[in-house]
Amino acid sequence: MRKKIVAGNWKMNTLVSQGKALAEELNAFMKTYDMPANKTVIIGTPFTHLSTCVAAVDTKKIHVAAQNCSQFEKGAYTGEVAANMIKDLGVEYTIIGHSERRQYFGDTDEVIATKLDQCYANGLSPILCCGEKLEEREAGKHFEVIESQLRNALKNVSPENFKNTIVAYEPVWAIGTGKTATPEQAEEIHAFIRGLIAKLYNAQIADDTTILYGGSVNAGNAANLFAQPDIDGGLVGGASLKANDFISIIKAI
Ligand code: PGA
Repeated sequence: MRKKIVAGNWKMNTLVSQGKALAEELNAFMKTYDMPANKTVIIGTPFTHLSTCVAAVDTKKIHVAAQNCSQFEKGAYTGEVAANMIKDLGVEYTIIGHSERRQYFGDTDEVIATKLDQCYANGLSPILCCGEKLEEREAGKHFEVIESQLRNALKNVSPENFKNTIVAYEPVWAIGTGKTATPEQAEEIHAFIRGLIAKLYNAQIADDTTILYGGSVNAGNAANLFAQPDIDGGLVGGASLKANDFISIIKAI
């Protein structure tokens, strides 16, 4: 069955002590909140915070994600963090192919494909991001861009591995800008992505895939976005750093 998910992406924010306090606040809320079994909460923290956050929460109720992993397995790659090191901490997910990684750190579609391989090989579930830039949307190329990003990333991904993948649609023009895609704009792309997954795999797999929307999701707009038939939750940046806002978004799912 398709899961509904609210995932926080803390990006490069908070010191460990602050992240721990945030995780504890969310954990206190989740303890009392009756979350249906098909709904999941994830927090995506900096690498330095992962162990602390895994220890700070009930990992049956709040799942922890990294925001990246190395495309290499192990060895002489100074500064890199391998998927099996992340998994070893009790972390279950990692964000892969976020537009900020594509823009600033050279995460091309090819690199993203190798990172996905590392996730699958080490039992991490990737949250695979895609999304068009403003000029691509204005040129009417958004469908084409999304299709190419997903086809390239998933080229060698088997159906079995794909089943462990969450897809996130994040229009670059909506990230951190306060300019959310309208529910209709987002739904149009989500339905397109689901159709593409049906072509790449099959209709059942497409129907079971969780597709998150990201880009200026907040306490005020979450419910309308999540009400769309193909929007299965959100990948939330800024609003995931404030416990009350993130809790409102969890309630909206
Ligand atoms: P935002 O970020 O919610 O701050 O726009 C979303 C993301 O980049 O995942």
